[in-house]
Amino acid sequence: MKIIMLGAPGAGKGTQAKKIAEKYSVPHISTGDIFRANIKNGTELGTKAKAYMDQGLLVPDELTCDLVVDRIQQKDCENGYILDGFPRTIPQAEALDRALKAMGEKIDYAINVDVPDSSIVNRMSGRRACTSCGATYHIVYNAPRAEGVCDACGEKLILREDDKPETVQKRLSVYHEQTQPLIDYYEAAGVLKTVDGTADMEDVFAAIVHILGE
Ligand code: AP5
Ligand code: MG
Ligand code: ZN
Repeated sequence: MKIIMLGAPGAGKGTQAKKIAEKYSVPHISTGDIFRANIKNGTELGTKAKAYMDQGLLVPDELTCDLVVDRIQQKDCENGYILDGFPRTIPQAEALDRALKAMGEKIDYAINVDVPDSSIVNRMSGRRACTSCGATYHIVYNAPRAEGVCDACGEKLILREDDKPETVQKRLSVYHEQTQPLIDYYEAAGVLKTVDGTADMEDVFAAIVHILGE
């Protein structure tokens, strides 16, 4: 099962992708998480990516496409995967299609988690992210058991640098300009499914399971 998660920043792509990955036993591949891990480890890719991410801009396609194309050819992707945050531009979608074609494969579902901009800033300011395992919480909607500590691994939770309201606004406008056109792209490919992302997390997940099958 090969799935793409589409949606604005803060729509809940990561939240749902983690749950799908667990239920269907496929890897969760988040380009945002990969870049953040590189920043944390001080790699060259991390340094380059940070300059864009901190401003709410997209990391250039040349730094992004090969990374994902390599990743989906690894052994653990044999039975499928969930791409979260990739593709984010039409050239990225075309690069993915070329790679899949060469592998004789195709995307099964592009799940669009639909949330209006008005709900996004509120979600982002309450988000807390684990610095170690990538788990995501919300101080109101999905609070960790102990404040500031990850339930899954015990590490510290932080507010992401790009979750400041000014940066969130920038990310939203970048989303509308560069990423939203992918909705039509995957509609035309016949794989688009849209779910209402304003519902409770469990209800959003139930809607996705309904699409993917038990
Ligand atoms: P990335 O990490 O992908 O960020 P994003 O797309 O902006 O999305 P987020 O991770 O912020 O949101 P999400 O949809 O995963 O929501 P979440 O589940 O956390 O990318 C970061 C940056 O990296 C980009 O800006 C760019 O610079 C760069 N980058 C990454 N990929 C790239 C690419 N392919 N090309 C170029 N650049 C790239 O949920 C948000 C909050 O809401 C959480 O607190 C959660 O608990 C809460 N929540 C979730 N669902 C619900 C619900 N149903 N009800 C109430 N609260 C909810
Ligand atoms: Mg995310
Ligand atoms: Zn953790």
